[in-house]
Amino acid sequence: MSPLNIVVGITGGIAAYKAVGVVRALVLAGHDVHVVPTEGALRFVGRPTLEAISRNPVHTDLYEGVAEVRHVAIGQAADLIVIAPATANTIAKLATGLADDLLGNTVLASEAPVVIAPAMHTEMWRHPATRANIATLRSRGVTVVGPAVGQLTGSDSGPGRMAEPEVIVAAALDRVAASASAAAHHPTGDLGGRRVVVSAGGTREPLDPVRFLGNRSSGKQGIAIAEAARSRGAEVILIAANLEVADPEGCDLRRVSTALELRDEVVAAAQGADVVVMAAAVADYRPVSVSDAKIKKDTSDAGLTLELVRNPDILAGLGSEPHPGTLLVGFAAETEPDDEHLVALGRAKREAKGADLLVVNRVGWNEGFASDENAVVVIGANGDVVTRAHGTKLSVAHDILDVVVSELTTTARAATTPKEPEPT
Ligand code: C5P
Repeated sequence: MSPLNIVVGITGGIAAYKAVGVVRALVLAGHDVHVVPTEGALRFVGRPTLEAISRNPVHTDLYEGVAEVRHVAIGQAADLIVIAPATANTIAKLATGLADDLLGNTVLASEAPVVIAPAMHTEMWRHPATRANIATLRSRGVTVVGPAVGQLTGSDSGPGRMAEPEVIVAAALDRVAASASAAAHHPTGDLGGRRVVVSAGGTREPLDPVRFLGNRSSGKQGIAIAEAARSRGAEVILIAANLEVADPEGCDLRRVSTALELRDEVVAAAQGADVVVMAAAVADYRPVSVSDAKIKKDTSDAGLTLELVRNPDILAGLGSEPHPGTLLVGFAAETEPDDEHLVALGRAKREAKGADLLVVNRVGWNEGFASDENAVVVIGANGDVVTRAHGTKLSVAHDILDVVVSELTTTARAATTPKEPEPT
């Protein structure tokens, strides 16, 4: 890789001392590194250290170097911006586009890829405000590295530790390489070059020209997944069943209404797809026959019996066939109140459907549907709980896609790792 002009933003968390390792590794790799610490960062690590390691002067003050228009010059010249550690405060400022210090100005004045390595206490990382801010940044194409799970500054441990410097450096340089290799019209991200099929919404099974059997799915979670996948560089085919929300931009949208229409589109789109996410709520049954005319009320008080026939299970159909190279992600909306039972239902459903991942969420009269928030458990192969996520549907979408990306990477590695020679 030819030498890059790299801005390393350092913000005010204890992990700032580890950022010195990021700067050093980038300099040793031959890059020209300009460190922009916040005032807070300088309480943890001294300017002389940063100048010595980066081999460049270090500036923080917005009102220094005005003659050379430094507040925008640093960002304009950058090929890559790495912010490590990124505190919850800086993440919030970046999400809002605040520019009240040199780092904020540098980011806003730059068109370079941005890679952030969050570091904070677990509660702050899990706070809905932080989750929403991270989702916003990801949707804008920011690459988020970590945080890792482990010992934090105090006696506590959990997700929130800054990723190790070598992991951050590798992710940052990969990101530049991905940007460079992607076609000019091709957005970059960790799903760049991948085809992702998402089904969303709820199917409707007509009874007559004016009535249908349907469900309460709004399609919001599926759309959030489609949008998130697109912002992470994927080519997205969205198979939309009766959406109650605006169509997302930039997806190949295929509208359907019934389960059979959805099946036809999904099966066709799944050919050659890297990922199929079945977020749609598909009717399990449809009326045996559809009346051509509106069904009239009987003059007697007798009830009406509808005869229904099973719809094909689309996910189970895909899962029952070998599907090398296609990751199948199913959803299970359950009303089970007990968490352990909910996870057990998810495990059983993943197995029964042959899905690679199953996302379980609790639904009820006031939970799940139409809401802008969601809480899910993702079950992986061998039944492990791979992740739990809650927050806005967009932030949950990104958390699910994190698992998808990691599965795609692991599978690719498994496919390319040379096998040990057989003992003779
Ligand atoms: O069995 P259940 O409906 O709970 O399973 C939900 C999962 O299966 C979802 O991913 C849904 O999209 C998918 N499904 C399907 N075809 C059906 C019913 C559900 O693909 N007929």
